[in-house]
Amino acid sequence: MRIDIISVVPELLESPFNASILKRAIDKGIVEIHLHNLRDYTANNYKQVDDYQFGGGAGMVLMIEPIDKCISKLKAERDYDEIIYMTPDGEQMKQSMVNTLSLKKNLIILCGHYKGVDERVRQHFITKEISIGDYVLSGGELGAAVLADAIIRLIPGVLGNETSALTDSFQDQLLAPPIYTRPAEYKGWKVPEILTSGNFGKIEDWRDEQSYQRTKARRPDLLDEE
Ligand code: ADE
Repeated sequence: MRIDIISVVPELLESPFNASILKRAIDKGIVEIHLHNLRDYTANNYKQVDDYQFGGGAGMVLMIEPIDKCISKLKAERDYDEIIYMTPDGEQMKQSMVNTLSLKKNLIILCGHYKGVDERVRQHFITKEISIGDYVLSGGELGAAVLADAIIRLIPGVLGNETSALTDSFQDQLLAPPIYTRPAEYKGWKVPEILTSGNFGKIEDWRDEQSYQRTKARRPDLLDEE
């Protein structure tokens, strides 16, 4: 998979891809991340990427021209499955959406900044708009890192144990059950006996029940979803 991320502050995106699981996925050649600085696509000496809003109002708006130049250059080089815009008024990010995106080959993620982008960018270039939650960030970069992380960890070969992504919270509309590791007793706090019983059938039943109870208590809305 290849992910191109367009931003006015690409340095914000360097560290998430430079450590741990994401770095390993890149080093193994499973995913390519290309960061693009929007200022490299400006026509003027000031490298201006934003301007005042027509009609007045607080906050600057990212201009269409550098975004067009960057996206058009990328699209001339290869086909993209989705051109995503990170924005608080986008479709709320969910595991099912991430699962679908993890099957794609080439993605562009455009990060908004300041007030956002000129609406014509959304109309003419963007195929999908994603919000990572009902709060406003100072730009789309952290959202893009969240989205890319959630996608990349699902690609086969990225996680050591293939089954571990399948047992994540949300994969079956349920939260994950509690997990424990050694020691079996710490300061008198014991691991549930069933987990050390060796009876894997019963352990699976226990986990299913715990998942259900946890979801019912914390996220009953998930149980109502299709
Ligand atoms: N940019 C600003 N806020 C955002 C959010 N909640 N999700 C995605 N991109 C954003």
